[in-house]
Amino acid sequence: MKLIFATNNQHKVDEIRALLTDSIHVITLKEAGIEIDIPEPYDSMEENASVKSKTIYKMTGTPCFSEDTGLEVTALQGEPGVKSARYAGENRSFDANIEKLLSNLADKPDKTARFRTVISVIINDHETAFEGICTGRIIDTRRGDNGFGYDPVFIPDGSNKTFAEMSLAEKARYSHRARATAKLVAFLNKLETNH
Ligand code: IMP
Repeated sequence: MKLIFATNNQHKVDEIRALLTDSIHVITLKEAGIEIDIPEPYDSMEENASVKSKTIYKMTGTPCFSEDTGLEVTALQGEPGVKSARYAGENRSFDANIEKLLSNLADKPDKTARFRTVISVIINDHETAFEGICTGRIIDTRRGDNGFGYDPVFIPDGSNKTFAEMSLAEKARYSHRARATAKLVAFLNKLETNH
């Protein structure tokens, strides 16, 4: 099965491709010859994931999926959440976002947080959504060079390494994206067996 992944984020593509079974062939927007930065105007990850997959499905008619992810910090009432990419401003700087997060959390004793991913997939005009959650905590200094976004300051429950200190395979043992993708893969494999 061929699916377009509606993202321009190569990190997300690498993480998700590493989790797919052989029968699922994911092509990126770039590989599909589509140059687009789809706006994420909504207040929920569900709606933002949905608008991204719907936009690409309307353009191509090809099965496609998208994902939207946010970091939800307990002491910040779920922020940055849906605003995770633009937390410190429109230029979407990973470094400035971490800086703002650490500054807002500095005087808060509760450092617990979770990543939440929502995947929206559209096949034959029918949309389905999956969620993946990873709970953990924020540390006050960056550690590690792998990954992207808030990875250098997030330690998932059950580990003592930040996501940025993990290989792709290690991150996948814990990550929100891996959990949501496992549900997508199960769904796609079931569709294939039924046809
Ligand atoms: P979006 O899903 O592209 O809107 O992602 C929102 C923001 O969340 C990204 O810009 C990253 O800063 C952050 N983010 C998303 N996924 C991850 C992850 O797996 N690790 C760390 N940060 C992430």
